[in-house]
Amino acid sequence: MSATNSRLWQQRYRDHAPEQGAFAADEVIATLLEHRSVRAYLDRPLPAGTLETLLAAAQSAASSSNLQVWSLLAVEDPQRKARLAELANGQAHIRQAPLFLVWLADFSRIQRQAERHDIDLQALPYLDSFLMGAIDAALAAQNAVTAAESLGLGTVYIGALRNNLQAVVDELRLPPLVYPVFGLCVGYPDADKPAQVKPRLPQSLILHRETYAVHPEEQRLIDDYDRTLIEFYAEQGQQSPGWSRQSLERLRTVAILHGRERLAAAVKAQGFPLR
Ligand SMILES: Cc1cc2nc3c(=O)[nH]c(=O)nc-3n(C[C@H](O)[C@H](O)[C@H](O)COP(=O)(O)O)c2cc1C
Repeated sequence: MSATNSRLWQQRYRDHAPEQGAFAADEVIATLLEHRSVRAYLDRPLPAGTLETLLAAAQSAASSSNLQVWSLLAVEDPQRKARLAELANGQAHIRQAPLFLVWLADFSRIQRQAERHDIDLQALPYLDSFLMGAIDAALAAQNAVTAAESLGLGTVYIGALRNNLQAVVDELRLPPLVYPVFGLCVGYPDADKPAQVKPRLPQSLILHRETYAVHPEEQRLIDDYDRTLIEFYAEQGQQSPGWSRQSLERLRTVAILHGRERLAAAVKAQGFPLR
């Protein structure tokens, strides 16, 4: 393994890189390993053509049966970004980033084809179809994230865009059968407020071989990771209760969903019965 990739591995896991292993010295892998969410942006416009480049990367992702049941909505208007920021828990980076992308699961295009050919799409109301749109949109978005990062841009996903789904649907004038999966801020990272690479769980807790088995040392490894994350946040002058406490809090109450507890109803109202 090259010295650079060894360093990137160490940064991601806060653990020594394996002595040997098929970790090729590859720029794409280095870009992936250096990912960090960016929540502070410069007031600097993106070069012409950036959106089209990111979209080409996004459209290059695999798509379930090549249905391409997703669309991208780009928001640059400061007032619209400000309104969306308010709908997404007041997250300031949505206002700050020059480009805000809304990744949509979109069955309206194929529905228009169905109407043209006078066909009833009987598979469409099922949960699997809804998932297909959400998965396609997510794969496309992640390709765009990697492309953006390779161009020196920063991004952060905005799941809070689902806090108030109906208001987002109204703001963006989304027709039936179109659902905003999440938003994504894109811009130049503010070097005065740098984001750091956040360590992840050790591979041994994530990887199962052949059949699923809980790691015999799961608790010790999680305790270690808790300490690593506490240290990570402390380096940034922030406090963290550690990964396990933080994750439990994130799922402990319905209130933490900030409106997303009404998502199923809103999704159904958008024309997805989720059968
Ligand atoms: C689907 C999704 C939704 C997210 N929503 C938000 C969000 O609303 N606000 C935010 O600041 N970060 C959001 N994030 C970013 C995560 O908090 C972040 O990816 C995670 O803490 C890991 O940090 P890293 O991306 O810097 O490695 C979201 C991430 C994903 C994948």
